[in-house]
Amino acid sequence: MMQSGRANFGSKLGVILATAGSAVGLGNVWRFPYMAGDHGGAAFILIYICCVFLLGIPCMVSEFIIGRHAAANTARAYRSFSGGTLWGFVGYFGVLTGFLIMGYYVVVSGWCLQYVFASLMGHLHGSPEFFTNYFQTFEKDPFKPVLWTVVFMFLTHYIIMHGVREGIEKASKMLMPTLFVLLLVIVVSSCMLPGAGKGISFLFNPDFSAVNGDVFLGALGQAFYSLSIGMGCLCTYASYFSKQTNLMRSAVQISLIDTMVAILAGLMIFPAAFSVGINPDSGPSLVFITLPNVFQQAFSGVPIVGYIVALAFYGLLALAALTSLISLHEVSTAFIHEEFHTTRKRAALIVTLSSSVIGAVCSLSLGKWDGLQICGRSLFDIFDFFTGQIMLPIGGFLTCLFVGWYLPHKMVHDEFTNWGTLRGKFFHIFIFCIKYICPVCILLIFLHQFGLI
Ligand code: PFF
Repeated sequence: MMQSGRANFGSKLGVILATAGSAVGLGNVWRFPYMAGDHGGAAFILIYICCVFLLGIPCMVSEFIIGRHAAANTARAYRSFSGGTLWGFVGYFGVLTGFLIMGYYVVVSGWCLQYVFASLMGHLHGSPEFFTNYFQTFEKDPFKPVLWTVVFMFLTHYIIMHGVREGIEKASKMLMPTLFVLLLVIVVSSCMLPGAGKGISFLFNPDFSAVNGDVFLGALGQAFYSLSIGMGCLCTYASYFSKQTNLMRSAVQISLIDTMVAILAGLMIFPAAFSVGINPDSGPSLVFITLPNVFQQAFSGVPIVGYIVALAFYGLLALAALTSLISLHEVSTAFIHEEFHTTRKRAALIVTLSSSVIGAVCSLSLGKWDGLQICGRSLFDIFDFFTGQIMLPIGGFLTCLFVGWYLPHKMVHDEFTNWGTLRGKFFHIFIFCIKYICPVCILLIFLHQFGLI
């Protein structure tokens, strides 16, 4: 049931762009392309798409069902169906996961801003060692990364403060198209380089011999993270959907956009890297060390193009991070706003300030406070590991069981079919996936990452 007077998205496009904004993030750019290239190219992409359809979309629809039906923040949404049982905790767990992810995600987002600034000022050129030193010195600096972390958090705050329609929806409608334009500019520039064909075939050449169990599980985990499943973002956004929103169709559209951006990210990175004979890697070193060097070398004939491509790339990365961070922020803001009966603005400020502190500590744990370690890992790595490898799969697993086995079938069917106004021809497939396929797959990923299978 919708609570009257509760904020909601004003249009279908708003729903798609805001939710796709949550999904499209750093994960699309720094992990997917490398995994695809290194694990069988087109073969990996095919497996990934199967994972998105079999695991990603059913999990996404499940979160949509819970969120839209309850029209409340994630904690209240789960609690409202749990009848006082322990299931109520799954929602709180989701809110906590979202909050903790924000703590380290904002640090990397801040790095993107620094690189936007550096490329704008023309600071990003030098020898390959220059780029390594530049990043390592910056990352360990006690002041700059913290400053950018806080700046990014307040940028997110500014959007959240304006509410769901005037803030999140309006921003997504501006940021997402800009992101696509930047992406296309870079893809075209990269694919036109001499020798770009080798990069394209590295990405798309199907090599089924490279496919093994690890690749399947890697693809599953990536699908999960990339679609922002398991930490309350989708549930919170769905609480702002209208009763007319077709949940299944929206999930398919959002997943296709997310996958397309991931593949285009590959087309932006590999052709340029191969044209200058550099082997791309993944993660922060790809984005902040390898790529600035690639762009510089690839466009050395026309430095102005190199300048524009680097600027466009970091701009794109910052936008992708921002739209994901908005969704993470909203999970906690909606929670505090509704559970503690405080104004939305105050709730947003509490989230911004506390995340800024966590972000600052995570950032400092990479440099000045590098003694701050748990089990030999920096706080930053602990946050990343704990949320991504442990909390997300647990949250996703419990959500599947909740929707597949606990919630009344009729309620799930009603939400899926918009109270019988849609045919719901995929309902049985959805239920089968959410009851059996998804929990088993998530369990496999979970056990695999601890080397238990
Ligand atoms: N889906 C985002 C990405 O691919 O970068 C990451 C993410 C965003 C994960 C929001 C979780 C989340 F709640």
